[in-house]
Amino acid sequence: MSRKFYITTPIYYVNAHPHIGHAYTTLACDTIARRQRLLGAETFFLTGTDEHGQKIERAAQAAGKAPQQYADEISSEFRELWQRMGISNDDFIRTTEERHKKRVQHLFRVIRDNGYIYKGTYTGQYCVSDELYVDGAQPGDPCPTCGRPTETVREENYFFKLSAFQDKLLELYANPEFIRPETRRNEVISFVRSGLRDLSISRSTFAWGIPVPDDPNQVIYVWLDALANYVTAIGYGSSHAAAQEAFKKFWPADVHMIGKEIVRFHCVYWPAFLLAAGLPLPKAIVAHGWLLFEESKMSKSRGNIVRTETILDVLGADALRYFLLREVVFGQDGSFSFDALVQRYNSDLANGLGNLASRTLTMINRYFQGEVPRPARGTANFADDAIAEAARKTIREFGALFDQFQFSRALEVAWALVAMVDKYIVENEPWALGEKQDETSRSRLATVLYTAAEALRIATALAHPVIPDASAKIWAQLGLGDIKKLALSELTWGQLPSGTKLGEVQPVFPRADKSAIERMQKMEEERKGAPAATTPAAPAGTAEAPTAAATAPANAPGTPNSKISIDDFAKIELRVGQVKVAERVPKSDKLLRMEIDIGSEVRQVVAGIAEAYAPETLVGRKVVIVANLAPRKLRGLESNGMIVAASLEDGKPVLAGFLEDVPVGARLK
Ligand code: MSP
Repeated sequence: MSRKFYITTPIYYVNAHPHIGHAYTTLACDTIARRQRLLGAETFFLTGTDEHGQKIERAAQAAGKAPQQYADEISSEFRELWQRMGISNDDFIRTTEERHKKRVQHLFRVIRDNGYIYKGTYTGQYCVSDELYVDGAQPGDPCPTCGRPTETVREENYFFKLSAFQDKLLELYANPEFIRPETRRNEVISFVRSGLRDLSISRSTFAWGIPVPDDPNQVIYVWLDALANYVTAIGYGSSHAAAQEAFKKFWPADVHMIGKEIVRFHCVYWPAFLLAAGLPLPKAIVAHGWLLFEESKMSKSRGNIVRTETILDVLGADALRYFLLREVVFGQDGSFSFDALVQRYNSDLANGLGNLASRTLTMINRYFQGEVPRPARGTANFADDAIAEAARKTIREFGALFDQFQFSRALEVAWALVAMVDKYIVENEPWALGEKQDETSRSRLATVLYTAAEALRIATALAHPVIPDASAKIWAQLGLGDIKKLALSELTWGQLPSGTKLGEVQPVFPRADKSAIERMQKMEEERKGAPAATTPAAPAGTAEAPTAAATAPANAPGTPNSKISIDDFAKIELRVGQVKVAERVPKSDKLLRMEIDIGSEVRQVVAGIAEAYAPETLVGRKVVIVANLAPRKLRGLESNGMIVAASLEDGKPVLAGFLEDVPVGARLK
């Protein structure tokens, strides 16, 4: 029976369009899955989208869409992109699918029946962006993960007895393979050692989620819903025999690959849920770092994302795949830039592997009528042996590094072989040998070109999981047929049959010039200038009542010479206010009426933020108010001031706040 291998990506939130940060995780998993298939493992590679929860519900509202329609649209963007990138996932799970919902409810029941769920009241802070309960925080405190202000939640919920698993989890972490890299493992150990509190695992103040079994007024906490995808997708909780078989075969997962910001959910909550349900635990959770762009984490809310499509359009999927895995030291943060991408593409792909392929194959065409020559027996010299030995060593080292997720070093090793063969070709001057007709020169030429072609075959085979498209082309040009049939575990020096007829030789990585960088930059700039796909027809801030963010900033594009003097700025009175009362304005989806204490007085302010903020979450919160704005009437209510918010790509307002405590009425200047 063949060995099985099960690998997962996190499932991606559908509140943001996919960018290269998401692509990074997915393609890392894809390369691992492809390598495992070539090694003969029966492989299951899962990815998908995370579609429930308050964050998605709010994003859908801000986009003026029903949550399901909104989720459908963004989820399909992910699927289409993965297809374009040649991602070889075996399934794509969506948490809004029936199969998932039923199986999550089953999991909930099992945990409940095992005695790990009880009803209680949660009062505390919640970060909607991370869908995280923040223990020990006070109203208005920032989320420790993302820094955004937390919201106060007071609800009757179901609780999970997380505290019961502290010792078992610590025992689990004793295995150094369970959480990787070591730094993440240490963080998790110290978090768990500091004490675990029971976890609220349901919500009652919104409806976009999977109903708690036997209590439809509650929905299951989005992280329990989402984490469960790893088992529901392969058949857990199904009554069908085939699904049960699949679950038996593939669970536990061999690798859950995640970004470093979701380590706690995967390394603490998930194993505890599984232990409570009596299920086996995943073998490894591997966390990678972040892709940074312009120095900070690439993310929608920072507005510093790079779209994958831009790179696919200009350089193709293999260029992106190779660059990200070669350039970023896996586990650490890595910067993305178009300059570095093009430089790496030219040096390693166009001038490196691509050039080795085209010069070697072109010479075999020219001097041996397109048939792989037979290396002359007994004429191998030190240089030929050195290449053969280096290739054998490369196969061993590449495998060991790759299996330890050290993609960058593995590729470095494979490309060192490419460079060595290039040097070997230069030193042995096959073009000069080709000009001579004597027997010795002919047989030397045959040996040199065979050696180069065989090394090319080995580098191509190793690189296949990373650059599937180009490597398949080189393989076919070498006359070897379908690279997917390669048995990687048997790869060794000397398997290239002499006499193999080459396929048609064509360049696989055309050199990119400077204009490639400019084109990509331009495409990204144009995208930033264009309205986001999910921008609602009437953004919350502008439709009925402005937030400060909705007014064009003074230096907005299209307003040249629009810098203001400090005196102009001083005319705007910005003050810290505290929300005392917040309620919906009748018959308006967008407006909230608030009473805001600005120190000297309590003002009535009407703002278009109702789609992004539930009124009860605002009471007690400190906000920024433009205090000297002329009053205006909205829906018959006088608004005396304006609340300051950032306006995100999808039109959603995010209120300005403070990380430190600030007194009510303080002036901002
Ligand atoms: N939905 C949750 C995960 C649930 S898994 C049961 C979530 N989604 S996410 O879309 O916000 O992020 C998912 C993953 O995308 C991250 O863990 C990370 O792997 C990847 N990345 C998103 N932005 C990234 C970067 N800027 N850099 C690298 N990876 C990034 O969290």
